[in-house]
Amino acid sequence: MVAATSQARPLAGDPEAARGVAVRIRGLTKQFGSGEQRVQALRGLDWDVYHGQMTLLVGPSGCGKTTLLSVIAGILDCDSGSVDIFGQSLTGMGDRSRTSFRARNIGFVFQQYNLLPALTAAENAAVPLVIAGWSRERAVRRAVDVLNSLGMSTKQGSLPSQLSGGQMQRVAIARALVHQPRLLVCDEPTAALDHETGLSVMGLLRETAVRPDRAVLVVTHDNRVFPFGDRIAHMDDGRIVQVQEWPGAAA
Ligand SMILES: Nc1ncnc2c1ncn2[C@@H]1O[C@H](COP(=O)(O)OP(=O)(O)OP(=O)(O)O)[C@@H](O)[C@H]1O
Ligand SMILES: [Mg+2]
Repeated sequence: MVAATSQARPLAGDPEAARGVAVRIRGLTKQFGSGEQRVQALRGLDWDVYHGQMTLLVGPSGCGKTTLLSVIAGILDCDSGSVDIFGQSLTGMGDRSRTSFRARNIGFVFQQYNLLPALTAAENAAVPLVIAGWSRERAVRRAVDVLNSLGMSTKQGSLPSQLSGGQMQRVAIARALVHQPRLLVCDEPTAALDHETGLSVMGLLRETAVRPDRAVLVVTHDNRVFPFGDRIAHMDDGRIVQVQEWPGAAA
């Protein structure tokens, strides 16, 4: 196991230092299967993700994007290396602390929404708060506020089957934001949406999730959403191979 590298800070004088590193990854490896079936999904990956930005992660299919996001979100164990989130070593935590850290600090938006079909929009969005011990009534009240801010005021009581793709994705975003996580990770949030709806979902993500003390990480295949990001990390074959500040980036 590679030791946590909390001493690895941006260079003095680096303008990025002022923004602060939200996620610091060093030497991350992850392998699936064994023998002939073995796939090395992450190959000693190093990466810093900054506060106050939306960072896009792009790369060819199978290069390891979802694997990386799952490790960062604490839902998949790595083999070696370190992940520090807001200065805390995720890879150094035991299962129980990690689950609790994740519940308090991380929101996850999946490509296929993953909504519970028997729950209304408001009940779905309230799930993380109920898990965190809030009463159902209070959790739903808070979820309704978040859904309102995402333009969903008339759909609070609708079941997922009664919603369009864009509306379901907005419920999924509300669910990821409802507990005000400092790190929001989104795996292809526009993949199942038409172009217009995809752009509107990205706009909403920018508006509602990018804050000076928070970080948003979005995996995307869709180059039409690139202008929404502040920074683009390119991944290939289990590593980050290039990071660029997007020319139109909001500083
Ligand atoms: N649970 C698993 N068991 C075995 N192999 C896996 C598993 N999950 C991912 N892989 C393999 O690891 C590699 C990286 O997969 P991953 O899903 O991270 O890629 P990706 O970049 O997200 O691809 P896509 O753009 O198609 O979503 C792939 O070769 C994939 O087949
Ligand atoms: Mg993927």
